[in-house]
Amino acid sequence: MTRMARLELPNGTHELPILSGSIGPDVIDIRRLYGEADVFTYDPGFTSTASCASAITYIDGDAGTLLYRGYPIEQLAEHSSFMEVAYLLTEGELPTQEELDRFVYTITRHTMVHEQLMNFYRGFRRDAHPMAIMCGVVGALSAFYHDSTDIEDPKQRMIASHRLIAKMPTIAAMAYKYSVGQPFVYPDNSLSYTGNFLRMTFAVPAEPYVVDPVIERALDRIFTLHADHEQNASTSTVRLASSSGANPFACIAAGIACLWGPAHGGANEAALNMLREIGRPERIPHYIARAKDKNDPFRLMGFGHRVYKNYDPRAKVMMATAKEVLDKLNVQDPIFDVARELERIALSDEYFIEKKLYPNVDFYSGIILSAIGFPTSMFTALFALARTVGWVAQWNEMIGDPEQKIGRPRQLYVGSPRRDYVPIDQR
Ligand code: CMC
Repeated sequence: MTRMARLELPNGTHELPILSGSIGPDVIDIRRLYGEADVFTYDPGFTSTASCASAITYIDGDAGTLLYRGYPIEQLAEHSSFMEVAYLLTEGELPTQEELDRFVYTITRHTMVHEQLMNFYRGFRRDAHPMAIMCGVVGALSAFYHDSTDIEDPKQRMIASHRLIAKMPTIAAMAYKYSVGQPFVYPDNSLSYTGNFLRMTFAVPAEPYVVDPVIERALDRIFTLHADHEQNASTSTVRLASSSGANPFACIAAGIACLWGPAHGGANEAALNMLREIGRPERIPHYIARAKDKNDPFRLMGFGHRVYKNYDPRAKVMMATAKEVLDKLNVQDPIFDVARELERIALSDEYFIEKKLYPNVDFYSGIILSAIGFPTSMFTALFALARTVGWVAQWNEMIGDPEQKIGRPRQLYVGSPRRDYVPIDQR
């Protein structure tokens, strides 16, 4: 029997169904509320609103748990590859060996981009931010792959999904190559997804490039950690864009634009810049004081999360990976010491304890990416590359969901009531 919530309003009592998911809080179904009670709900930032039903990713922010299709992120980061995780997120189950081989084969065969697409890059300034290039180039894919833009056709949707996952490393690597004035490197299908990306980014025609397996594994793990994160801002943007029937390439470009912001995907770049600015452990207390000062807009970047009110499980894996990479590359980066000390001090400070502010995924990722050789401007592009898998999975889920309709939030209007136009000479 459906449980009901009762809402008392001046115009009467209204009964609203309570829905239960497989885990997590129940939700009150308010879809009929406006029609029956003539009121809207008010929830800027969607802090208490479920925008959809989804079977892909689950977060328990209090416990610090993140599950992809039910599997804990720590287990996937340790045992799985990014391609296997991509299959899991998009198809719903872990693949058999044969299914994985076929998936990898398909993705690998879509890694090249239309030769004409290269001309887009030349239209950008060399100092363009890679995310600016990504927004433009990914959106432009819809002008190149007309045979996979019909969202009503499941086969076209599948091809578009594969193309997006496969071409994103090529597009991101080309953005980097363009910024440093080196020639684009074509994909090499004998390499893994991540190995190929490393080569397209760092190889030059003048000498051979050998993929370092430790770096390859670390980056692959970073991709896994960033692959999906439930209904975050960029994923919700992809869903909202898609709710109008827009083509997948345009929708993912919209997700990239949203991810760029420093409160979302841009935070890893901001976190590393902050660690560099702090520079030495002795300077940490000054920055902690600034973060706590209400009159100072400064925040500890890489700290805090809308959903996690506990240690972000991805940050734990990230810290271990950072150590692995620095050891392997024999990098003595003082920034790593600053990060660890900052974390220690913040976690024992009353302000951070009381507000439940813990390191998030972005706190350590910048240190790893920087040690590998990526400039900070590429960090968010790497996030976009990995998150494309989640966006694609969520986009497909949404299109297959008969309950979804065009996204159209309402508002609490606080502007002027109706008034008549006043001619300019009478104002
Ligand atoms: N440093 C100092 N104070 C903070 C911080 C921080 N990083 N984060 C939150 N607070 C304080 C904030 O001032 C507020 O205090 P009060 O209640 O006194 O006004 C309280 O904690 C709650 O903050 P909020 O802004 O209301 O929380 P939110 O859920 O809207 O914001 C956040 C979440 C991630 C935007 C925020 O914590 C933040 O700006 N963090 C730094 C940026 C960052 O690292 N972002 C990456 C997020 S993880 C990657 C991803 O999933 O995209």
